Amino acid sequence: MLKTMKYKTRKPKKHLVKEEAVQFKPNPYLDVRLLQRERKVKNRIEKEFIRGGTKYQVVHHSPDKPVDLSKWSNRIICSDSESVLKEIPNDSIDIIITSPPYNFGLDYDSDHKNDAVKWEDYFAKLNRVWIECVRVLKIGGRFCINIQPLFSDYIPTHHMVSKQLLDLGLLWKGEILWEKNNYNCKYTAWGSWCSPSMPYLKYTWEFVEIFCKGSHKKFGSSNKIDIRGDEFKKWVYAKWVIAPERNMKEFGHPAMFPEELITRLLKLFSYQDDVVLDPFNGAGTTTAVAKKLSRKYIGIDISDEYCKKAEDRLKKTSVETSLFQRV
Ligand SMILES: C[S@@+](CC[C@H](N)C(=O)[O-])C[C@H]1O[C@@H](n2cnc3c(N)ncnc32)[C@H](O)[C@@H]1O
Repeated sequence: MLKTMKYKTRKPKKHLVKEEAVQFKPNPYLDVRLLQRERKVKNRIEKEFIRGGTKYQVVHHSPDKPVDLSKWSNRIICSDSESVLKEIPNDSIDIIITSPPYNFGLDYDSDHKNDAVKWEDYFAKLNRVWIECVRVLKIGGRFCINIQPLFSDYIPTHHMVSKQLLDLGLLWKGEILWEKNNYNCKYTAWGSWCSPSMPYLKYTWEFVEIFCKGSHKKFGSSNKIDIRGDEFKKWVYAKWVIAPERNMKEFGHPAMFPEELITRLLKLFSYQDDVVLDPFNGAGTTTAVAKKLSRKYIGIDISDEYCKKAEDRLKKTSVETSLFQRV
C-alpha cells in the first residue's frame, strides 16, 4: 500500500518564481485583480515548501517490467469489486472514475439490503475497496470520486471518504463542484418552516473529489492528449454545470453519471490509451465514454442486469474520431 512508500520532497527551484512571472498570460476566465493580489506574496514557492503541502511530493516507483493487463482490459466484470480488484496487478491503472452506492436506500438491482446498512459497516466496506484501488493505481494515476452525502442523516459522506483516501496515502488534487441545477428538490420539505429551530438546507449540486497517487503530475505522450484549448480553459474552472442523466429509466438504474461528466474528467485527467477503471460501474457510463474516447476500460458491478446493460451500451458505442485538429 502507498503508506509504505517513501515520498521525496523536491526542493523548489528559485528561478521558478521568475519563470512563472514571464509566462503569465491573462486568462479571460480569471478575475485578474484577485490573481494580482495573490502574486504579491513574496517568495511564494519557498513559503509553500515551509508549509510542507503535497505539491512537490513525488514517489519514484514503477513496476520492474510493464504490467500485462491484456487479461483485464476492455472487460465488464460482474462480481463484488473488493474480490475482483484483489486479482488486478499493482500499479496498472491510470485513472479510476467511480461513484459507489450511497447507502441512501436506493433500489439497485440485486441489492438485498436495499442500499441501507449501518454507516460504520458501509464505510468499512468502502475502505476495503479503496485499499485495492490505491494499490492498483499507477504512480501519478488519478482517482475521481463522486459521492453524495446523505443530508437527512447528517452524514458528510464525501468528507469521510476523502479522509479515508488521504489516510491511505493519496494526494488531494482538487474538487469539481458539479452543479446539476435540479431545482425540483427546492420547495418540498422545509424542516422547520420559517423558524431557525431546524431548517433543512437544499443542494442542487454534488462534488467530484480528485486524488492522485504519489505525484500530482501524470506523464504521457503529447500525441495522446485529446483535450482542446477551449475545453481546457473552461474545464479548469471547477464549477461544471451539467444536467443529471435523463435516460435513467431507459437503463433501469437509479443513479447514473451523465456522459458529459465522464468526458470532461477523462480528457482533463487522462491520455488516450490509458486504462480506466470503474469499480462500481452500474449501467456503464464510465466504460462507454472511455471506449468512445479511445481509452482502455475495466468496469466492475455486482449486478448481472447492470453489467448486461453496460455490455450492450459498449456494443452500441463507437470510437470517436475527431474532425478537428486540437488547438
Ligand atoms: C451509484 S451506482 C454507479 C452508477 C454508475 N456510475 C453509472 O453511471 O451507471 C453504484 C453501483 O454500485 C454497484 N455495487 C454495489 N455494491 C457493489 C459491490 N460490492 N461491488 C461492485 N458493485 C457494487 C451497484 O450495483 C450500483 O450499480
